[in-house]
Amino acid sequence: MDNIGRKRGHIGSALDQEQNQSCFDSIRLKHRSLPNVSLEQIVLDTQFFDKTTTAPFFVSSMTGGPSESERINRHLAEACNELRIAMGVGSQRISIQDGETFGLNWSVRHAIGNLPLFANFGAVNLPHLKAVEELGRILDPIEADALILHLNPMQEVFQSNGDTDWRNIIGHISEVCEWSPVPVVVKEVGFGLDLDSSKELVAAGVKILDVAGTGGTRFADIEIELNTNIGEILSTNDVFNNWGYTTAECLINISRALPSTTCWASGGVRNGLDVAKSMCLGASAVGIAGRLLRPATESTDAVLTVMKQFKSELRITCFGLGVQAVGDLNTTHILDGTRVD
Ligand SMILES: Cc1cc2nc3c(=O)[nH]c(=O)nc-3n(C[C@H](O)[C@H](O)[C@H](O)COP(=O)(O)O)c2cc1C
Repeated sequence: MDNIGRKRGHIGSALDQEQNQSCFDSIRLKHRSLPNVSLEQIVLDTQFFDKTTTAPFFVSSMTGGPSESERINRHLAEACNELRIAMGVGSQRISIQDGETFGLNWSVRHAIGNLPLFANFGAVNLPHLKAVEELGRILDPIEADALILHLNPMQEVFQSNGDTDWRNIIGHISEVCEWSPVPVVVKEVGFGLDLDSSKELVAAGVKILDVAGTGGTRFADIEIELNTNIGEILSTNDVFNNWGYTTAECLINISRALPSTTCWASGGVRNGLDVAKSMCLGASAVGIAGRLLRPATESTDAVLTVMKQFKSELRITCFGLGVQAVGDLNTTHILDGTRVD
């Protein structure tokens, strides 16, 4: 299957996935009967580098490649523009490989206006670049505010012809950090960033870690479904079902061990309450992918409806906790004895 066909398959399979159970369900926050704040006055504004958005959540990198992704990205970018929300685009490998941007160009920048927009590239593809400067070809057309590199070893391994040589990828990431004119963010794709890798990434110069833990979109399932020869490497499709770390586990481990590192959360975020819980666990911003995919296939209005619900749920959470600004959420708002798994 070619790259475009595989990307198209990702959208179809991700749309079929149900997102019902989540690590966030076992986390309880402290209710206040006397909140001492006004619901309307609660501040959700958040700083992304030198720009301010109206909420701490952003659209996590999704599609790039097939023609339907142009529509999806336009709906997402237009909704972001209207509500003043940040967005990451999907993998732009194809722009470098085939010289064709497939809609991940000035049109996304135009649709989102001056809001924070993040480029995306797979870290395992860095060794295939002729020179690190080639990444300019994905940053410049969208005037990217940051470069997100994704780590997806447990996605590649289930792909037919996936990239399974991960030796010295950290060396290449370090080279990107030295060169990049914009901050470098490293994210997982739904298996969760572990602490040892996080330490290596910070030492390599990565500015922000996006944990992208389990509990939401399951990329192993997607690739297994698309791989017609999967029987050659797996006895049953569910062998690796429980692989990885939940978003909550990653946030707890990384924010304890690397307290001065900026952490973003994503993976299994279903609503504004999950956004608030992620922030209580140490995230400064929160990415949403799967939950926005179906509305994004429909219309800009459908995306706007979901984003407004997220904002309202987040505001209600702050109100119920008696918190004046979303940036003030922290571990003290988590009920003692809460179970995080
Ligand atoms: C259809 C689809 C395509 C995705 N493509 C990319 C991608 O190109 N690059 C990337 O870094 N992450 C990609 N992701 C992963 C998401 O950014 C996110 O990390 C992951 O889905 C977990 O978030 P969720 O549980 O809210 O879906 C994709 C997710 C979906 C659903």
